[in-house]
Amino acid sequence: MTKPQAKGRITKLRQEINHHRYLYHVKDTQEISDAALDSLKHELAQLEQQFPDLITPDSPTQRVGGKPLPELRQVQHAVPMLSLQDAFSDEELSQWETRNKKIVRAAYDYFIELKIDGVAMALMYEDGILIRAATRGDGRVGEDVTHNIKTIEAIPLRLNQPHPKRLEVRGEVYLLKQDFARLNKQRAKQGLKLFANPRNIAAGSIRQLDPAVAAERPLRFFAWEITAGAVLNTRTDEYDLLQKLGFPVPPDAKLCRDLEAVSRYLIKEDKQRNRRPFLVDGAVIKINDLNISQRLGVVGKAPRGSIAYKFAAEEATTIVEDIVVQVGRTGVLTPVAHLRPVSVAGTTVSRATLHNADEIKRKDVRIGDTVIIRKAGDIIPEVVRALPKLRPPRTKPFSMPSKCPICRSPVIKEPDGVAYRCTNRNCFPVQREKILHAVGSGGFDIDGLGDKIVEQLLQAGLIKDAPDVWQLTVGDLLPLERFADKSAQKLIDEISQHKIIPLARFLAALSIPQVGTVTAQDLAREFRSLDRIRDASVEKLAGVSGVGEKIAQATYDFFRDKTVQKIIQKYETAGIRITAPETDGALSSKTFLFTGSMSDMTRDEAKQRVTALGGKVASAAGQEVDYVVVGEDAGSKADKARKMGLTIITPQQFMKMIK
Ligand code: IVH
Repeated sequence: MTKPQAKGRITKLRQEINHHRYLYHVKDTQEISDAALDSLKHELAQLEQQFPDLITPDSPTQRVGGKPLPELRQVQHAVPMLSLQDAFSDEELSQWETRNKKIVRAAYDYFIELKIDGVAMALMYEDGILIRAATRGDGRVGEDVTHNIKTIEAIPLRLNQPHPKRLEVRGEVYLLKQDFARLNKQRAKQGLKLFANPRNIAAGSIRQLDPAVAAERPLRFFAWEITAGAVLNTRTDEYDLLQKLGFPVPPDAKLCRDLEAVSRYLIKEDKQRNRRPFLVDGAVIKINDLNISQRLGVVGKAPRGSIAYKFAAEEATTIVEDIVVQVGRTGVLTPVAHLRPVSVAGTTVSRATLHNADEIKRKDVRIGDTVIIRKAGDIIPEVVRALPKLRPPRTKPFSMPSKCPICRSPVIKEPDGVAYRCTNRNCFPVQREKILHAVGSGGFDIDGLGDKIVEQLLQAGLIKDAPDVWQLTVGDLLPLERFADKSAQKLIDEISQHKIIPLARFLAALSIPQVGTVTAQDLAREFRSLDRIRDASVEKLAGVSGVGEKIAQATYDFFRDKTVQKIIQKYETAGIRITAPETDGALSSKTFLFTGSMSDMTRDEAKQRVTALGGKVASAAGQEVDYVVVGEDAGSKADKARKMGLTIITPQQFMKMIK
């Protein structure tokens, strides 16, 4: 990106981010998810890093914190409400450990708890009675929201005995996913604006002036810390005491001996987090020994003794580079967005379904748009929405093609008014066979791309033709049936190892009508490059031995077809390298005829070896044949060759020649 381009993009990103920050902090509402906003901030930060002189003091990257509601009373926190440093990988966790061990040389274990996606709250108790509840605010001064917090049933208004004289407990106010869905359903019925996520409801309800609103919302609470009133040695003791006093705590907390155990916990919880009834956005890893934690102190606004591990976000923003129309098994056309690759939920996403024409129209997704991509669990990635304010100038709304992008047959709109369909019933099966032929043993010979997988890839809109397979990523395969991390990686590796192909095989992979393996070899040997075959006249093509008038015409027409030209272009873009047959190979300018079966290799393999070594393969006995390889149960071809006085050799002699 050039500097003026970056400047334009930075300005737009700042406006968009500021708009969402304002909605969130001042209006208590949200139009896009935190993850999507984070993604925009990330893009901005990266651009500013690339062009540091474009950083301005008012850039959203240059500030932290939000504005308090002026109507709520302010509360000074006796112990500041800190935040946590984030980690996104095992590596970052081990760096955290290394840093800490340099400060405090001691052996310790970790207490790990689910990180609940809610709103932090400080609760003050005197003589066992809840006297005040405050939000975090800027960490030093929060807002008094006691009137609303008292409506939350999970928060004890009176502590269990025995309890300290004064106690401060901190924790997270949250909402169950099912309650969030129910509330939004109700609001939709009443024609009210929908909430973006459960945390958004929690935050909004807590900061209301009228407690009746909070009372109507099924808010819940998990306690995660005691900041005053108890002398404790470990996080485990703290967790136990909180429960004894009457507080709910995050479930399935665990004491882990080392970071390896922590890592196992994280993998397990990441997998099952979608099944939890509340939103979990990571885990908090805390040094269990509170004295060690204390000694480590604070850096910036975060204690060194704890760290927040964030699970990969399920949403991110990226740019639509193209919208490609896919033809499914039943002929239905599906638009697919091709994206600038982006990491979502731990995998790289480069394509996302746009479902159908109505959906694109409703979302008004255009080529060049910045979009929010969502990929939850095993779901195929989808485009959530476009961000029209980040749209470049001169974009066009998308429209469905009137001709099938594969077979050029007319496209009709279904009576249901949503789906578009190719009118050629054979379109999908023919395309599937073509792809299978190209990647199969006569073409690129890619292991693991069988009919089931090719069919799935076509169905999911991940490929449209054979060259598309080189654009596949592990992230594309993972949501499909039959794929796990290892098998997906294996197939991607296998595909990327098949980028070099002899010309004859490439011609076979193209599925030129009437051109079989032998003709492909004849053409390859004669012309020695794809360009020369492509540019050859019908006469020149027909001049090749073994190529008749009809085949020459079919080949000539084939290379004049726009779809074919596009496919060849796509192979080039994918980095496919076509190699010419050797002229000075061991069998150069020798012609072989095979008849009967051979014990050491199949006839096809033998033919391939001959061409690879620069020789030719004939299909019938003729004077141009140098050697006739006669195997077992040879038929009339062998007799004819003998009659013609051609040189006959055994398969064993042939094997010696090619060694
Ligand atoms: S311990 C110094 N434990 O996540 C703060 N926090 O990103 C110590 N959170 O500020 C926090 N679940 O609002 C802790 N089990 C948990 C938590 C948790 C959610 C929130 C909390 C904190 C933020 C850090």
